[in-house]
Amino acid sequence: MTRLPPEAPPRFEARILPGLPALAEEAARQFQSAAKESIAARGAFKVALSGGSTPCALHERLTKAPFRRGIEWKRTLFFFGDERCVPPDSDRSNYRMARRTLFEPLGIREERTFRIRGEDPPKRAAEGYAGILEEQFPGERRPRFDLILLGLGADGHTASLFPGTRALSVRDRSVAANWVPQVGSWRVTLTYPALNAARRVVFLVAGAEKAAVAAAIVGKRSSSAFPAGRVRPRQGSLLWLLDEEAGAYL
Ligand code: 6PG
Repeated sequence: MTRLPPEAPPRFEARILPGLPALAEEAARQFQSAAKESIAARGAFKVALSGGSTPCALHERLTKAPFRRGIEWKRTLFFFGDERCVPPDSDRSNYRMARRTLFEPLGIREERTFRIRGEDPPKRAAEGYAGILEEQFPGERRPRFDLILLGLGADGHTASLFPGTRALSVRDRSVAANWVPQVGSWRVTLTYPALNAARRVVFLVAGAEKAAVAAAIVGKRSSSAFPAGRVRPRQGSLLWLLDEEAGAYL
């Protein structure tokens, strides 16, 4: 595991792992560490999962030893960083991916999973999710997730915060409906106020197609030029986990 030089602020760290399995292993360790810390401190672990394909390797790793029995799943509440505006049984649904790769294999009861209702009209889905977050994070002006997992697109997007889209400028809400012309569809996404309220944010980045944008962000050469570069938890830690291909230019 390659650690980058410590010139970045202490709460920012990037690690390059030798391949996707090693990245998944380190991400699972981070997940377990966050769970133990949160449950010890607050009795529960509230995590927002990432969409896309990279998290599948982490999900699969969590369903096996030592993590399967090493995490208090009954005290873990699962949320989502974003969702495509599709029904929950669509093969494009982030919820469906999580259900198949994580919830079903671990036997997670549905009442501990809080999905974004992609089948609803986008704005109603966003309002509904904001209501769920208010219920699950009572008394908190912004939901303070114990861990938010995020991915990175080759264009620098994260969650469903795509370059040039309106949700990038939302500062008064935790959740927004976002028309994404790059994919020609609506999405629902956590906004920067929610992302940057997290105790821990971990990016999972794999693949050569991410190398240039990862270097621009993680190398802090032009971090805020990309949506993912503006994820900087105000009172939390930020960890970038990259495989060797994605970290090739770092
Ligand atoms: C989504 C994700 C999105 C994803 C990136 C990276 O709904 O698709 O939230 O932000 O994390 O596009 O996706 P991969 O992991 O598939 O490269």
